[in-house]
Amino acid sequence: MYKDLREWITQVESAGQLHRVGVPVSWNLEMSTVSYMASYTQQSPAVLFENPTDSGIPGTSLLWNMLGSSEQRIALGLGLDPALPTRDLIRATRELLARPLIAPRMIDASSAPVTQNSLFGEQIDLTRLPVPRMWPLDGGRYLGTGDVVITRDPEDGTVNVGTYRQMLQGPREVGFYVSPGKDAFLQREKYWSKGQPCPVVAVYGVDPLLFMLGSQGFARDVSEFDVGGGIRGEGIEVVIGPVTGLPIPAHAEIAVEGFAYPGDMKPEGPFGEFTGYYGKPEADAPVIKVEAVHHRDAPILTCALMAEYPACEQNTFFSIIRSAKIWDDLEKLGVPGIRGAYSHPAAAGGFGLVIVSLKQARPGHAAQVLALAAQCPAAAYYTKWIVAVDDDVDPTKIDQVLWAMTTRCNPSEDIDVLRMTWSSPLDPSQNPPEKRPFGSKALVNACKDYRHIKTFSTRSHPKREVCEQVAKRWTELGFSAPVPDVQSVE
Ligand SMILES: Cc1cc2nc3c(=O)[nH]c(=O)nc-3n(C[C@H](O)[C@H](O)[C@H](O)COP(=O)(O)O)c2cc1C
Repeated sequence: MYKDLREWITQVESAGQLHRVGVPVSWNLEMSTVSYMASYTQQSPAVLFENPTDSGIPGTSLLWNMLGSSEQRIALGLGLDPALPTRDLIRATRELLARPLIAPRMIDASSAPVTQNSLFGEQIDLTRLPVPRMWPLDGGRYLGTGDVVITRDPEDGTVNVGTYRQMLQGPREVGFYVSPGKDAFLQREKYWSKGQPCPVVAVYGVDPLLFMLGSQGFARDVSEFDVGGGIRGEGIEVVIGPVTGLPIPAHAEIAVEGFAYPGDMKPEGPFGEFTGYYGKPEADAPVIKVEAVHHRDAPILTCALMAEYPACEQNTFFSIIRSAKIWDDLEKLGVPGIRGAYSHPAAAGGFGLVIVSLKQARPGHAAQVLALAAQCPAAAYYTKWIVAVDDDVDPTKIDQVLWAMTTRCNPSEDIDVLRMTWSSPLDPSQNPPEKRPFGSKALVNACKDYRHIKTFSTRSHPKREVCEQVAKRWTELGFSAPVPDVQSVE
């Protein structure tokens, strides 16, 4: 598996998925707009800006659309085969997440690339970095979106790695916005309740595995570092931060160390979100007083644009990891016959729509799957639409799902609604905003009616033997594209 962001970029470039921009591009709305527009092109490449304007650190570049809507880049980020079809990628991700945890491995600062350059105290001026402004109405410039933030629980010592945005507040200050209830929020509260500052490390140039893990919820006593070690098959190399004593990924591009002091708040936001709308209005948020900056020579900042699909950095990797977790939750509940689950990337950052495919085995089976999928831990947040389809429908193929919804679902009978469910303050459909974060969920049964399953209209799909014969003659028949993977055969 790749060692760090640089090795991964090399893999991505060899796969033809990197677009280098050598001409000057401004941090002020221009990079985000290039990333937004590039995501609509066929390849939706990762974009590396090698010549940012106003950069005070020689050779600094910025990587945007790192994973974007590319399953190939996500597979490479997870150390998997980039040729895997979506359903197999989800299955393989499930297996990765089930691997035993491996703790990080401490290495000496002298051999850690991230400490090639270190600045302390008055030497620090973060405004010398080309920190992007992403959306016209954002409250400021955001250093961390494609980041991870590292904190330690003062009671049990668990090290948390979370992706939280960080608005530039001054030469030595960044915002530390974390939604209530999230791990870093709870850890920070523990320090503050004792009147102590919360030590923090924020990494602004991070490899895609740690970035993906930082944005996922794990049990509070599980460190994302250990999950990442398990996936890599060896402990992630870290170096101990001289100021905070927190572990810093040794191969990170750039990391800061500092402290969030009790009650030290500054206005923060709004910020263009994964829903494709601005989130909550400007409000006070904690700040981190930065006391050290460590960076590699010519560091690469990783930037994550939040937007509607396909421009949103989180949509597709969330879709893959969330689908794996939902599938896993359903299996753990002991529901038989699950053939796959898919949290569609285009639905509000991968949160809004979940499709589950099952082999119906008894009356009420589809209704059970719908109810459990709607409320299982991995899918309970935000999901508005849960669709059950039969096992001849690939849940990752939206046109097959739409076909099932329009030929097997009778809306007056087959849709149920759950009310007062867990949604998000970012859901613009709930108004006035005070109604949030309660929402509702529609359960759509797009399976064949089990009461009539024996007499349900016969599907007109091709015969298996003829499909196989045609596949053998595919080239002779003059087709140059690969033989299509027809899954529905008689
Ligand atoms: C690019 C990106 C930016 C994010 N920004 C924030 C943020 O500013 N605040 C927040 O609470 N969650 C944010 N999230 C979601 C968290 O990363 C996610 O809830 C994660 O599970 C938090 O880690 P935790 O479970 O260890 O608290 C962001 C996710 C992504 C992908």
